[in-house]
Formats: sequence, C-alpha cells, structure tokens
Amino acid sequence: MTEILPADEDGIARAAALLRAGELVAFGTETVYGLGADATNAAAVAGIFAAKGRPHFNPLICHYPTAEAAFTQVEADDRARTLADRLWPGPLTLVLPRQPDCPVALLAGAGLETLAVRVPAHPVALALLRAVGRPIAAPSANRSGQVSPTTVAHVLAGLEGRIAAVLDCGPCPVGVESTVLDLTGPRPFLLRPGGATVDAIESLIGPIGRGIPHAVAEAARGLRSPGLMVSHYAPSLPVRLGATSVAADEALLAFGAPLPGAGAVFSLSDRGDVTEAAARLFEGLRSLDAEGTRRGLRRIAVMPVPEHGLGLAINDRLARAAAPRG
Ligand code: TXA
Ligand code: MG
Repeated sequence: MTEILPADEDGIARAAALLRAGELVAFGTETVYGLGADATNAAAVAGIFAAKGRPHFNPLICHYPTAEAAFTQVEADDRARTLADRLWPGPLTLVLPRQPDCPVALLAGAGLETLAVRVPAHPVALALLRAVGRPIAAPSANRSGQVSPTTVAHVLAGLEGRIAAVLDCGPCPVGVESTVLDLTGPRPFLLRPGGATVDAIESLIGPIGRGIPHAVAEAARGLRSPGLMVSHYAPSLPVRLGATSVAADEALLAFGAPLPGAGAVFSLSDRGDVTEAAARLFEGLRSLDAEGTRRGLRRIAVMPVPEHGLGLAINDRLARAAAPRG
C-alpha cells in the first residue's frame, strides 16, 4: 500500500517521480515529517486535505530547495532576504505576497493572496526538492487533530494506505514545527512560534509583533486568515448557497450535472467527486466572480455539495464566502 522508501539515490528518485505524477509522499524535514504534494497540481493538493481528513482548507507551506527558487514565486522584501540569508535552510516559514504569475495552486494557499514558503534544513528533503523541481506543499504528515509525526512509524500510524509513499529520513532533529512569520504588513508578525527563535529573528530584522491573541491581531491588521473570520474569501458578487434552480442573471458554481439557464457556469466536478471539486473550488469562485462582474450578473449561485469527505471543507469555505459582509 504505502511504500517505505530509503533515503538513498533510488529512494529519492522514486519519491520525486511519484510527486511529479501527482501522488502524495511523506518526507522528513528537520522539524517534523511533511505530507508532500506537487503544489502546482490542484488535484494533488486536494489529496492532502482528503488524506489528512482536514475539515477546513488551512493554507499550506510550500517548500523550496533554495531561497532563489522561493523568491521567484513570492515577493521578497529586504526583511525576507535578510532572514533567508541567515536562517535558511532552517525551521522558519515566511508568509509573503504571491507573485502575479505564481504557479502554486490557489488551494495550497487556501485562496489567499499570500503564500507561506520555507527552505527546510534536512539534506534528504533538499535533495528531494531539487529532484522534483517544483514547489512541494506539505503540512505535517498526521491525520487532522493528531500530533505532528517525527518518525516514519508515526507517519504510518496515521496515514498507512492513504498515501503513496514515505521517504525514511530518520527521526526529525528539531521535532517541533517551523516558526511562521507574517511579512505581508509593515510590521513583521509572529503567527506561530516554532523551531526558529524570536531572538534570532529580532536580532536580524528588529522587533516583531507577538503576544496578542492571533485572531485579534489578524483582525486589527486587516489580514485575511482562514478559520478565524467568518467572512474570509469573499468574492465581490454575493453568493447564494443550496441552489436547486438558477436564473439567467446568476453565475453558477456547479457540482454534478449543471442546472440549466445560468448566465455563466463553472463546474467543480461533473461526476460529483468532492476531491476534484475541492481542487477547483477557489479557481471556480474567482473565475465566476470575474466573469460575472464583467458581464453584469447579480450573484453566484452554488449547487449543494454533499457533506462527506472534502465536502465538509468545501461547505465550510462556501459558507464563509456567503456570510453577510460587514
Ligand atoms: O515545520 C513545518 O512547518 C512543517 C514541515 C512539514 O515543514 N509543516 C507544517 O505545516 O507544520 P502545517 O500545515 O501543519 O502548518 C502550517 C501553518 C499553519 O498554522 C497555517 O495556518 C500557516 O502555517 N500558514 C500557511 N500559509 C499561510 C498564509 N498564507 N498565511 C498565514 N498563515 C499561513
Ligand atoms: Mg500541522
């Protein structure tokens, strides 16, 4: 079922081939084991959420072999370059604005305009990233709600049979996740304490915001962070859920066979597959919002999505998109 690959040349080549083919492969980093997928492949990224049983589309960290590779896909400022020079490879994740042509699937960033990027310090992880040649999205390789894994045995305990392979990188030396630092605003902000210390960061770029409850700080800073605010990714057009019929002045986000009569249609999954639908959700909302606005349509109508598998996460996000705006 799940292949256990040795961390040698052949094992790394096999892991890289699986990832390039859209499969899920867990691999060790210096912090914890990550559940990797090709970040540019939306269907593969949807597979991560399905395998973990995540009820929400939390944004994922994208892993790169070098800072140069990361900074072609996100916009690095002086602070980011300074931190990268001194602390990468290492247990630090930087949240930065996506470049306009960033090839990472929107689902990997949970539809945000920002992307979390990091260069891990594990030699096998780096060799794997070089071999794949694409960014790898990887949350911790555990089932949702369980603790992060630091050995292959931990990974298999949660994900055996649910992922194609795990690359045996030995026990993770750091053992806690990376520090997540938001650099999208004028003031750097600590989103998650982790393997890189605040002292190390502050000695390089000066004081960083912390100690304020996350949700309060996010709201105060006007940052959009999923799971914290009811209305997270809100299209500019209003959203109507549970559509069983559709009008000509509505854009339709379809699941299964599209309802007839809409002014514009985006199909999440013609065959009614929730994992395929998850992979296409953010793209669908964005493209209907743009097309509907351009053509003067009044709202986006959404067909019902069943509450199983990734359907929960899809409906969670759709409810946020439809929530009353302030
Ligand atoms: O050490 C680690 O960071 C491990 C290894 C595998 O690299 N990965 C990891 O990923 O812990 P995960 O998905 O378990 O945690 C990612 C964290 C979450 O708290 C998420 O909300 C935050 O990073 N995050 C990711 N993208 C973000 C974004 N665009 N804006 C704000 N927070 C983001
Ligand atoms: Mg985690």
